[in-house]
Amino acid sequence: MPKIKNTFFNQSFISINQISSLSQITYLFKKADHMKSVVENGKIYEPLRGKLVSILFYQPSTRTFTSFVTAAKRLGAYVVDIHGMGQYSSAVKGETLEDSIKTINQTTAANAIVLRHPDDSSSAVAKSVSRAPVINGGSGKAEHPTQALLDLYTIYSKFKRLDNLNVVMVGDLKYGRTVKSLALLLAMCGKNNKITFVSPKELATPKTLIKELSKRLTIVEKTEFNSSLKTADVLYMTRVQKEWFEKEGKLEEYEQLKLKYILTRHMVSQMSKKSIIMHPLPRVGEIMQEVDDDPRAYYFKQMRSGLYIRMALLESILTP
Ligand code: NCD
Repeated sequence: MPKIKNTFFNQSFISINQISSLSQITYLFKKADHMKSVVENGKIYEPLRGKLVSILFYQPSTRTFTSFVTAAKRLGAYVVDIHGMGQYSSAVKGETLEDSIKTINQTTAANAIVLRHPDDSSSAVAKSVSRAPVINGGSGKAEHPTQALLDLYTIYSKFKRLDNLNVVMVGDLKYGRTVKSLALLLAMCGKNNKITFVSPKELATPKTLIKELSKRLTIVEKTEFNSSLKTADVLYMTRVQKEWFEKEGKLEEYEQLKLKYILTRHMVSQMSKKSIIMHPLPRVGEIMQEVDDDPRAYYFKQMRSGLYIRMALLESILTP
């Protein structure tokens, strides 16, 4: 088989739209499989020795943060990780993101910068001034491209296909960024994929995105999800994102919407035996704990995919 080209080398990765072919996905997934075997067998694999990865988070995170830090360290890189950029960096004194990125370039000589930030355009802004490639670890309400890759890797591990998938996305589709990136990635993968978006009207997927997606695959919008359970391959739950309501002074609306959809064991019993339930996490009540023991509950396994995919991506960006 001809060797697949590494299109990620020395490039920023700030948007899921940068994935434009299945061969890029195959490339990363093969590498992620390798990382899985390295981690599971306790092997030492340190292609990033001597490199430095700087990880800057301006928003809370448990999974994305720890998996990026671990991915870089397991590959042998030095890591400078700052979780509280919003509280403890010079951002508090009014420094712009541009200046902070230039600073990190200078003070750490980073070979790559991973950024999570509340502004939709933050990764693009960082990329425009950074000497080192920028990786988007979540930008505002807009994008979470590495989450989409790990979600797809999880789906592929189960179904062994990237087309003909019936994916039901439930919850906060207005503010949530993971669903947007994953929907775009599924649209790239196959025209026979189908996405059903389930949300209250107030939290519907932005119209521009619906328009964009509809050109490429089947999109259905609904306000209830019982009718979609039987035929779903993937049920992708999300939380209603309180922090954005807070920012917009709409906490009352949040209280009304927060638990519109709650997945119970009884509902799961109507789903196909072969289906899976995913969630980017954190959950705040939308999946009952009683669902966790069901073999279809994939949301904890899903997180481990994040470690392998982020290892694969870091190696691809930092070595030819
Ligand atoms: C998500 C995020 O930050 O967008 N979490 C994650 O990275 N796994 C989802 C969320 O916060 O609801």
